[in-house]
Order: sequence, then C-alpha cells, then structure tokens
Amino acid sequence: MSESNPVTIRLSKEGESVQGNFWEQVGGRPTFERLVRAFYEGIRTDDVLLPMYPEEDLEGAIQRLTGFLEQYWGGPGTYSEERGHPRLRQRHMPFKVNPDARDRWLAHMRVAVDGLGLSPLHEATLWAYLERAAHAMVNTFDD
Ligand code: HEM
Repeated sequence: MSESNPVTIRLSKEGESVQGNFWEQVGGRPTFERLVRAFYEGIRTDDVLLPMYPEEDLEGAIQRLTGFLEQYWGGPGTYSEERGHPRLRQRHMPFKVNPDARDRWLAHMRVAVDGLGLSPLHEATLWAYLERAAHAMVNTFDD
C-alpha cells in the first residue's frame, strides 16, 4: 500500500489497483483540453453566454479554464502561477450569473463531460463538483 498516493481504486478484490490523483487517472492534460474545448464549442452557440466572453480572446479563456481545472484536480499549478489565487466568485462578479446562465453553462458542460467517455465513478465525481461550483457562482436572481 503506497502512502504517497491520495487515491487508490481497486476495481475488484483481485483487480489491479489504479493509482495516481484524479488528474492522472482521467488522462491528464489532453483530457482537460478536450473537456474545455468541447465546452467552448457549446458557448460559441449560446446567445446569452457568448457575449459575456472576451470576443478577441476565447483562446485565452479556454487556457484559463483548462489550467484552473487541471490544478484543481491535481495537475500542474500553472493556473495560480499565472493568475494568482482563483477567487472564482469574485472573478465572476462582473458577469450576470443568474440561474438561466448557470443552467446554460451546465448544459454545455454536460455535453462536454459526456464526450470524454470517463468511467462512471470519475464522471460522477467530476460532475458533482461542476454542478456544485456552478451553483456557487450564481450572483444575481435578476432576469
Ligand atoms: C455558472 C455559470 C458561469 C458563467 C456564466 C461563467 C462565465 C465566465 C466568464 C464570462 C468568464 C471570463 C472568461 C475569461 O476571460 O476567462 C469566466 C472565467 C472563468 N470561469 Fe466561469 N462561469 C461560470 C461558472 C464557472 C464555474 C462553475 C467554474 C469552475 C468550476 C468557472 C471557472 C472559471 C475560471 C477558472 C475562469 C477564469 C478566471 C480568471 O483567471 O480570470 N466558471 N467565467
């Protein structure tokens, strides 16, 4: 039993253990890039959310969200090296995040998560976090 690995999943009593943190288990950077790029394909079609994003810098927004999620799940800490403490609620204050915006955000994320083909456990873990985080980001109930 390794003490240094925070998560060890054994698929069955005889099964081989799967080691590494969540970021490693789901495939590292390429998986998070696929997730965020698929999410932004949805954003591009969304007439409520798209206007909130910087027109000239969607690629920058893609890199920021990818880096943040990688860091959160145990990947490299590049996001905070470049952006400092996440303070996500504060950083979202300039945007009108009402329940409609939240549900749209989550709908695009749902499609993106489904596209990854993760194991049910990894998928449920990721989704529970994204749902909770999106609910926490709501900053107005105005239409
Ligand atoms: C609930 C609906 C949400 C809306 C409408 C929304 C919208 C936005 C917008 C318009 C930006 C600016 C784009 C940029 O230039 O980076 C942004 C940034 C960001 N969002 Fe969200 N967001 C939502 C939820 C979330 C959630 C749940 C997370 C995390 C799980 C998240 C993580 C981020 C991050 C990391 C950034 C970049 C922050 C920075 O370093 O400046 N957002 N979001």
